[in-house]
Amino acid sequence: MIFQASKYVQHLFKSFHLHGIHSPFVFQFEKKCLRDSTYYEDYELMSRFRESVKNNNTLLHIEDHGAGSRVFKSNDREVRKILQHNSSSAKMSKLLYRVARNFEVKRVLELGTSLGMATHAFSLANEVVQVSSVEASKEVADFTRNNLLSHSINNVDIIQGTFSNFLDVKLKSKPHGTYDLIYMDGHHDGDATLKYFNKLLPYTHLDTVVILDDIYWSRDMYVAWRKLTKHDRVTAAIDIYDLGFLFFRKEQRQQLFHVLV
Ligand SMILES: C[S@@+](CC[C@H](N)C(=O)[O-])C[C@H]1O[C@@H](n2cnc3c(N)ncnc32)[C@H](O)[C@@H]1O
Repeated sequence: MIFQASKYVQHLFKSFHLHGIHSPFVFQFEKKCLRDSTYYEDYELMSRFRESVKNNNTLLHIEDHGAGSRVFKSNDREVRKILQHNSSSAKMSKLLYRVARNFEVKRVLELGTSLGMATHAFSLANEVVQVSSVEASKEVADFTRNNLLSHSINNVDIIQGTFSNFLDVKLKSKPHGTYDLIYMDGHHDGDATLKYFNKLLPYTHLDTVVILDDIYWSRDMYVAWRKLTKHDRVTAAIDIYDLGFLFFRKEQRQQLFHVLV
């Protein structure tokens, strides 16, 4: 897409041009989460989890509550194709793992499970982490729940239903406390993203990290991302092109950083 290509060139330029003026917090985030090249043993488990679906031809029925697909025509999709087109890459899964690990998160919420590549990564972050992940498609949710269990992952709750139902009904039905990390990875529509973010705010604290996927998926998603970087509650925002990170930390003045990973 021309929009994505032109934005990527701008991102490259801003990343190089603004390098060196990062805050101490962003410097540490870059060093410990974005650029850490340590080989963690958990990467082996993540690789095995990914391999387990790589050649799987099972057809799963997709109930589309998102912004549609640019790749698939049919709503019945092979698992291996879902891995190729609707899942976090190995590189991004490792990055998400490092963020969860470094922030020592205890409660994670993911909107958009798919085959659980990020869910699995988050579940390995530390001994105490609990991960909740919301997925509309029943067959996908069931498949991933079973696959996680077969990989001995017992600290994940896959919640089948739409994001709206989760935010409007389930979250409100019992005291939920706050989340340390929220990963928004589904329904790539600008207005929906803003709506979900505002509904999630009561479940955040000053050290929560909110991660948005596909901020350059469309012009509309990019506009939503830029609005969020200027939201009253948001201080630091970090754009790595594939993902956007939002922080609420008080010691940081509102600023957007571009980082190339
Ligand atoms: C890009 S995939 C998620 C990838 C996954 N987070 C990973 O790291 O591999 C997005 C998922 O969100 C689900 N989804 C999209 N819109 C939704 C909505 N409004 N409610 C619930 N699930 C939704 C889709 O069915 C799809 O499985």
